Amino acid sequence: MKRAVYPGSFDPVTYGHLDIIERAASMAGHLIIGVLNNYSKTPLFSVEERVNMIKSLTKDMPNVEVKAFGGLLVDFVRANQADAVIRGLRAVTDFEYELQIAQTNRVIAPEVDTVFLATNLKYSYLSSSIVKEIAAYGGEISAFVPPEIREHVNRKMEDRTKIERNKGEECS
Ligand code: PNS
Repeated sequence: MKRAVYPGSFDPVTYGHLDIIERAASMAGHLIIGVLNNYSKTPLFSVEERVNMIKSLTKDMPNVEVKAFGGLLVDFVRANQADAVIRGLRAVTDFEYELQIAQTNRVIAPEVDTVFLATNLKYSYLSSSIVKEIAAYGGEISAFVPPEIREHVNRKMEDRTKIERNKGEECS
């Protein structure tokens, strides 16, 4: 793999993602992390915030670049002259969906291959949604995300709580 794209929502990036990033970066000449700017989902973090958080965590990885993208993944892959897409597989449950996406992408762009990396067993249960759910209820997330991401998530949750509280006061 000369140039590979690792796409995702990364809302927020977890230790599971970082494990895939490190391993993919050692396999590819150049790794572009594509952070999806998805208008149909309401992410916890804006795409700029997600890009900046991953940039900060990968600043010492010379062959890793982080960019936002919207639209079709294969268009982003082509625009970056990449030849492969990296996806992590946590369990069999991921496989059906991931295979469907990989096969669809290959029909649209036959020159782009998808490479699956088996997620480290340590993180096979982990997802950004679970991290957000735990943090939303005031739970501890330090086992799942690096310290600086934990701070960002907790701050976001505090901001949300304040907004909800203010809304409640306005209504009463
Ligand atoms: O981290 P996620 O949310 O599982 O990542 C999903 C992602 C970004 C890989 C997928 O939603 C995607 O590729 N979106 C871009 C739109 C696209 O190309 N769709 C066609 C294939 S489904």
